[in-house]
Amino acid sequence: MFALSLLFAAILPFVSAQSDSPAFRIEGIEAHFTQSGIVPSLLSTFDPSALLTINYDGVGDLTPGQGVTQEQVGPTPKIKVEAANSSVSLSGAYTLAMVDADVVGSDTSSVTRHWLVNGVAVSNNEVSNSSATAITEYAGPAPASGSGPHRYVIILFEQPSSFKAPADLSQPNIGVSKFDLNAYVKDSGLGNIVAANYLTVEVGQSTLSLSATSPVQSSTLAPVTSGSSTGSSESANPTQTQSDNNGAIGLGTVKACIGFGLALGIALA
Ligand SMILES: *[C@@H]1O[C@H](CO)[C@@H](O)[C@H](O)[C@H]1NC(C)=O
Ligand SMILES: *[C@@H]1O[C@H](CO)[C@@H](O)[C@H](O)[C@H]1NC(C)=O
Repeated sequence: MFALSLLFAAILPFVSAQSDSPAFRIEGIEAHFTQSGIVPSLLSTFDPSALLTINYDGVGDLTPGQGVTQEQVGPTPKIKVEAANSSVSLSGAYTLAMVDADVVGSDTSSVTRHWLVNGVAVSNNEVSNSSATAITEYAGPAPASGSGPHRYVIILFEQPSSFKAPADLSQPNIGVSKFDLNAYVKDSGLGNIVAANYLTVEVGQSTLSLSATSPVQSSTLAPVTSGSSTGSSESANPTQTQSDNNGAIGLGTVKACIGFGLALGIALA
């Protein structure tokens, strides 16, 4: 561990300088998205211009991919958004979506929609929904017990004035259901992804083995378990008992060690 941390400290001498800036933290999120497979399995590309931070009462700001319990993420979170730099404007209209990227039946293009709000704004570095339309109100994660870690991805899209919601998702109060996120984005005319982040929830004992992912790329990896893309189902309103499991096993442990080693490395640098 110590040797590893020194190695990271040696190859990443620049990290201590600006490790708090939005631009730097955005790079960390990009690396997480690639490493956890969200890019390219859910999003073919990801080049955000702002930092999205998910904040739950009683938990605080989540780190990218942070493992949390179903209980912790039951209430609607606050979504903070910070521009990468002063030339990025966040004055437009946006669509906010949250999907479970780990619901893969036979239709691999389907994800479960947990939140979809059109016409949100960014005000004082926070997503404000005062003049928005909630197509699907926030519905907290509820993965099936034993279905492994689920990655819940929260995405802020540009919503140009030409945006037109598809007929089946144009009215408020539509419950949680599967949909094809990418087809929705394309058909409705949504613009670029401005910012995104994700969290991980696992309920019960996983029966899945974690598959290998790409090499560690980020200098800001947090000790999390990335979800595998194995099929699983999810109910909107589960009755199963929940056992908190942040899943620090196998690959997760390796990543946790790297993350910790790196943090130590930075501290020592
Ligand atoms: C500001 O951030 C945007 C989006 O990440 C990037 O394209 C642009 O090059 C940045 N500009 C400066 C001056 O750093
Ligand atoms: C706005 O957010 C509040 C608090 O999370 C929520 O109760 C309300 O339903 C939301 N309204 C819309 C239109 O999204």
